Amino acid sequence: VPAHAAPRPGGVPFGAAIQFEPFEGDPDYRRPYVSECDLVLPMNELKFGLLRPERGAFRFGPADRLVDWALANGQAARGHAFVWWSTNPDWLEAVTEEAEAERVLLDHIERTADHFRGRLASWDVVNEVIAHEPGEAGGPLRDSIWLRRLGPRHVPLAFAAAARADPSARLVINDYDLEFTGDRYDRRRAVMLDIVRQLQDANHRVDAVGIQGHLYSHLKIDREALARFGRDLEAMGVGLLATELDVIDFQVRGDADAIDEAASVVVGDFLDGLFAGQRPEAVITWGLSDRYSWVSDVMPRTDGTPARPLPFDPQGRPKAWYEAL
Ligand code: XIL
Repeated sequence: VPAHAAPRPGGVPFGAAIQFEPFEGDPDYRRPYVSECDLVLPMNELKFGLLRPERGAFRFGPADRLVDWALANGQAARGHAFVWWSTNPDWLEAVTEEAEAERVLLDHIERTADHFRGRLASWDVVNEVIAHEPGEAGGPLRDSIWLRRLGPRHVPLAFAAAARADPSARLVINDYDLEFTGDRYDRRRAVMLDIVRQLQDANHRVDAVGIQGHLYSHLKIDREALARFGRDLEAMGVGLLATELDVIDFQVRGDADAIDEAASVVVGDFLDGLFAGQRPEAVITWGLSDRYSWVSDVMPRTDGTPARPLPFDPQGRPKAWYEAL
């Protein structure tokens, strides 16, 4: 399995998340994935709830299509994600026994990793396990079905299962809000380093930290702290990659040019800090064109104009932050 594929000489692999519906339905959608990407990953199709809307069957078809298409193009693919607090099926919420929850978790990881073994360069083993506001009463980990049923040990359980099931895939711990300036972000970076250290102390393999990189035009990147974070991980033998880069722009007033300029500044600052720490394994955006982005649905602009979170505009033309990349 190519470790996140072959970038252009001197570069790091660039990738983007891909969505099944436009892949099937929009004839223009696939082209930039072929021309721009060393790597693609199914944005949603490997999430627990989409893979297993019912308990008995795994719905591997859509992710198989996307992954095999990428491999046929000579690209790498990666998996997102085994453990997440969101997008879980109702039947999983109804599993209340600890021992049964553990069996479900291990079985899910084993069967899914086994199905894709040899085809995925890496897996997000756990996604967003750090508390939104760590340091508050709830402790360092975020509330989830897995934390409620199994406690913090669901994290090492998941890493151990993934390592057994796919020894060739790099195992990633993925999270958000790890790049900005301020106490809350310092705490989140510290919690991430703690979790990785604890996994290593217990002899679990964790190959890399994924920084999602959902940036905000109005938040300041802490380049120094981000670089230090990368160096600290490197000293622990742990890699780093940007996994879900995009820009949330609801706070920016002005026209499309002003929005795009603000985005290219924050992306540039982010990449400067990232590359100053250790060479990232990959830089991956959460889509390519503004035509398809979760940001428009979840954090729309207040002036009613469309969000512009990604490197290409809705017509597929590269924007200022494409140049920053
Ligand atoms: C989002 C997708 O982009 C949407 O299409 C979906 O409806 C919800 O999930 N952090 C993550 C991603 O780890 O999985 C989320 O993706 C965005 C935030």
